[in-house]
Amino acid sequence: MSNSNRPWVEKYRPRKLEEVVNQKGIINRLQQFINDKSMPHLIFAGPAGTGKTTSALAIVRELYGRKMALNTTYLELNASDARGIDVIRTYVKDFAKARPPINIPFKILILDEADNMTAPAQQALRRTMEKYTQNCRMILICNYSNKIIPPIQSRCVVFRFSSLSSNDIKERLKVIAKQENISITNDGLNALVEVSRGDCRRAINYLQSCGTISQKVDQDIVFKVAGEVPPERVKEILQTAIQGQLDFSINLLNDIIKEYGLSGINIIKNIHREIYDLKISEKTKIELSKLLAEFEYRLSQGGTEEIQLKALLANIVMLQDMK
Ligand SMILES: Nc1ncnc2c1ncn2[C@@H]1O[C@H](COP(=O)(O)OP(=O)(O)O)[C@@H](O)[C@H]1O
Ligand SMILES: [Mg+2]
Repeated sequence: MSNSNRPWVEKYRPRKLEEVVNQKGIINRLQQFINDKSMPHLIFAGPAGTGKTTSALAIVRELYGRKMALNTTYLELNASDARGIDVIRTYVKDFAKARPPINIPFKILILDEADNMTAPAQQALRRTMEKYTQNCRMILICNYSNKIIPPIQSRCVVFRFSSLSSNDIKERLKVIAKQENISITNDGLNALVEVSRGDCRRAINYLQSCGTISQKVDQDIVFKVAGEVPPERVKEILQTAIQGQLDFSINLLNDIIKEYGLSGINIIKNIHREIYDLKISEKTKIELSKLLAEFEYRLSQGGTEEIQLKALLANIVMLQDMK
């Protein structure tokens, strides 16, 4: 693959543990394992895009340096293609069983999306884990550690990764944008943080998509690429409806449907995100969220988008009379 087409999440994946941000406590302990050249089986749990795979690969790199070789010193499997018990019984077992190369204390198996594995496959994994611990240490990566069977959990040290702060994501994005000769406006940066919701991978992917459209990335481009409506626009629709201006709010709604090409459900989700920030009474917020729930259901049952969305706005206008 040519360099320019490489996904930026791979191109800019930190190679060293010390470059992983926001997970200080975890990184310090992992570094200890590397200093000692010894480590237990590990579980990395936490939301997407917080540095789990990155940290696992960095461990391998720091432990093995130039001896890092796929299938010989480490194996990285994505559990969604290796979910079944057969793969665990054959491929994984063979890897774990074979002795590590000379001068290597143990091999490492990285199993991504381990919480997607079936229970029987996890049982088989547990047996392999137990039997070949000398040869092979495992790093299981998952979103929720409670989906890993207890006997595996009790054999592992669990590390919980937390979502990155807005500032950490912004810093990463700035570094990447600079390398790629892209200028991001401040509102563009804020929008990227907003649409990625603590998922650094998503933020970088959106930045790359925006970068293919324009050298200058601002809020508008970000929201378009992410298929989201700028919060002010949604607030405007809500506010006009709450003030009783039905026609006006319907016009505004039609505008964003045309501009952003959103489905009805998507619009309801966008509206839902904004209601808690509006300066309206608690009671109106409660009524609004009930309405949104009802109209989301109607749409899911096949109601016509245009009719349902207009009816939703009409219902919001009527909330006025309750005050
Ligand atoms: N804590 C972090 N520090 C620095 N970069 C990060 C961090 N978390 C995620 N990233 C960025 O996001 C991308 C995806 O991270 P990854 O480790 O694959 O996430 P996951 O937790 O889903 O395994 C990486 O390429 C990296 O650029
Ligand atoms: Mg991952």
